[in-house]
Amino acid sequence: MRMKLLTYSSFASPGIQPGEVEQILAKSRANNARDAVTGLLMFNGAAFVQAIEGPVAAVDHLYMRLVNDPRHCQISRHDDLALERRIFDEWTMGYVQINGGWLEGQYDVADALAREMPDSVRKLLMSMANTLPFE
Ligand SMILES: Cc1cc2nc3c(=O)[nH]c(=O)nc-3n(C[C@H](O)[C@H](O)[C@H](O)COP(=O)(O)O)c2cc1C
Repeated sequence: MRMKLLTYSSFASPGIQPGEVEQILAKSRANNARDAVTGLLMFNGAAFVQAIEGPVAAVDHLYMRLVNDPRHCQISRHDDLALERRIFDEWTMGYVQINGGWLEGQYDVADALAREMPDSVRKLLMSMANTLPFE
């Protein structure tokens, strides 16, 4: 089955309530388990970054739902790539919240970044995590 990986960033819509992200996640995980979609969602209180991967049709359908979701805005797509092996294969939707420099669930960040992935995807995740590569 052909698979793809898609990443985007967006901003939480004004007036989003605390707790709404938990609802989004619960729904996402149920839908994604059904649709064989896996991925990672990062949120810093203002912006989202998400990677979604799985069968081409499932990922494309999900992206269509996402761009029409009024809970976020200014959606900009980054990667849209064919994928041979999943990056986040055991996460129906891994979640990392970043608050004021403190990483909640930082093991997930380390876990996420330790995986093999295209450079462009790593760059996007790192820009959200505000982690600089040690060069
Ligand atoms: C930041 C963000 C991330 C989301 N991630 C997913 C996701 O991974 N999977 C999913 O099914 N829905 C996700 N959603 C929700 C979808 O936009 C949409 O509301 C939902 O898929 C509709 O599901 P339903 O047709 O079962 O009601 C996300 C929404 C937001 C705002």
